Amino acid sequence: MIDLHSHILPEIDDGSKDMEMSLSMARLYVENGFERVVATCHYFGEGKGPQIEDLEMAKSELEDMLDREGIDLKIELGNELYLSPDIMENIQSGKALSLAGSRYILIELPANEVPDYTEDILYEMQIKGYIPIIAHPERNSKIIRNPNILYTLVEKGSMAQLNLHSMTGMYGKDVMNTAAALLKYNLIHFVGTDSHSDRRRSPIVKNSLKLLETKVGKERYFRIVYQNPELLIQDKVINKINPEPVVKRGLLNGLMNGLLSIG
Ligand SMILES: [Fe+2]
Repeated sequence: MIDLHSHILPEIDDGSKDMEMSLSMARLYVENGFERVVATCHYFGEGKGPQIEDLEMAKSELEDMLDREGIDLKIELGNELYLSPDIMENIQSGKALSLAGSRYILIELPANEVPDYTEDILYEMQIKGYIPIIAHPERNSKIIRNPNILYTLVEKGSMAQLNLHSMTGMYGKDVMNTAAALLKYNLIHFVGTDSHSDRRRSPIVKNSLKLLETKVGKERYFRIVYQNPELLIQDKVINKINPEPVVKRGLLNGLMNGLLSIG
């Protein structure tokens, strides 16, 4: 398996706090069935936080230690890019990274909103040959209220990555229910651990993976967990299967109740 969303690099962002923790995370990755991880350090803009040189140095230090400890885990670089109007400029000038050098870019939306310019920026990326992947949309409070915001973005060419820990309720019930709805309506194309440590937000995802398989069935599970990440790493085209608008159960029940009461 390949993890497309990870904060495993030591002392680089709010993820792993030191090399010891990164190695402990690496061991957990291997135990949980992963052979490759894209280290997606947060990127907030030029001059804000770690830049590419910092990531390259941290990656090479971690790779040396993995070698020395005999841990068989490959590390790729990427960024989790916070949405901003200059995001494309930073990618094109080489200040921020796509996922493992591919055409796919991991985008982090603000936690509580989907700014008006989101659609335009994601469209601009595609015009320039990139494919945006929205990181953990199930955690965005606006998408929780209206999941069809994501449907519109997916319809217009974006893809989406679900956090595996959202499946088990680590981020609360609303996030868990939204995760289930987005999966049900084919709005999720990748999963990731988004692991930040060897404790709470960790690479321990066996239970989440089991739950995912139960929810989506073997064929879609294979596509989401194995096939799509493999195609991404090879920078190949990934087809999206039938995204559908989300029908909220509450709304449907409401309509049915309304009809029953009229009848
Ligand atoms: Fe993240």
